[in-house]
Amino acid sequence: MLLQGRVVVISGVGPGLGRGLALQCAKAGADVVLAARTEKRLVRVAEEVAALGRRALPVPTDITDEDSCRNLAKVALERYGRVDGLVNNAFAIPPLTDLTTVDLAAVRAGFETNVLGALRLTRLLVPALSETRGSVVMINSAVLRHSRRTFGAYKMAKASLLALAQSLATELGPRGVRVNTVAPGYIWADNLKWYFNHLAEKRGVSPQQIYDETAATLDLRKLPEPDEIADAVVFMLSPLARAVTGQCLDVNGGEWHH
Ligand SMILES: NC(=O)c1ccc[n+]([C@@H]2O[C@H](COP(=O)([O-])OP(=O)(O)OC[C@H]3O[C@@H](n4cnc5c(N)ncnc54)[C@H](OP(=O)(O)O)[C@@H]3O)[C@@H](O)[C@H]2O)c1
Repeated sequence: MLLQGRVVVISGVGPGLGRGLALQCAKAGADVVLAARTEKRLVRVAEEVAALGRRALPVPTDITDEDSCRNLAKVALERYGRVDGLVNNAFAIPPLTDLTTVDLAAVRAGFETNVLGALRLTRLLVPALSETRGSVVMINSAVLRHSRRTFGAYKMAKASLLALAQSLATELGPRGVRVNTVAPGYIWADNLKWYFNHLAEKRGVSPQQIYDETAATLDLRKLPEPDEIADAVVFMLSPLARAVTGQCLDVNGGEWHH
């Protein structure tokens, strides 16, 4: 129970990693505050957390909106009286298009969610996190490790998010607040399952074949599942990582070495 008695705010609670983060934090003993725009999904995940015996507070939130984030910070503190952890998981994929042709307004919109949204939420929670000597985790991506065509706008945003985490670690360290990054590669959840089915249909092979071909490129021969990535985040939030700040932990089954 690494997070016993702690309160963790999670942004971007969707069906993949966001849900996994909520459940693994709860299993580690934390009460959680669930933030995303779709209330129905937040409520469903909150019910799953309650079934684990922990409290969950669903708060519909748009991280690109200042008032919405202020409301999130306020109701979290009103309900639980403290915040020990913040996981910035919400993201928006900019168009997967070459940088020479990509629409600049869409690149800018990607920065709003992926970088400024995370900074906005973190700033609002710094006073509470300073009181608990808490910790922030930014969810990044293996896009940091390659420069494949069409991923440029996404890489720009995630590289900026990494820079944000490192600079915040320097700024907030003297207040006892740690800031780290967890960078997943493949996440074996609904989106990827849908994509593999689509690829399989296109190629006339089984989805299992697509899985096996992909997994063969990972040292561990297995695509990481949301709970496996979330456990690395639990570690970063926990006292086990009390001397770790400004770092990036890649959780990718060995696809990339860093
Ligand atoms: N999926 C992958 O293969 C993969 C690979 C590497 C890294 N990652 C990283 O892992 C994280 C989670 O990815 P995931 O695919 O598993 O997604 P997820 O956790 O299932 O869902 C993320 C959620 O973010 C929410 N969101 C988007 N914009 C928001 C906003 N403005 N305000 C509040 N919430 C917002 C969306 O919910 P609403 O629409 O309800 O707001 C979305 O469902 C991301 O940071 C991503 O970059 C993913």
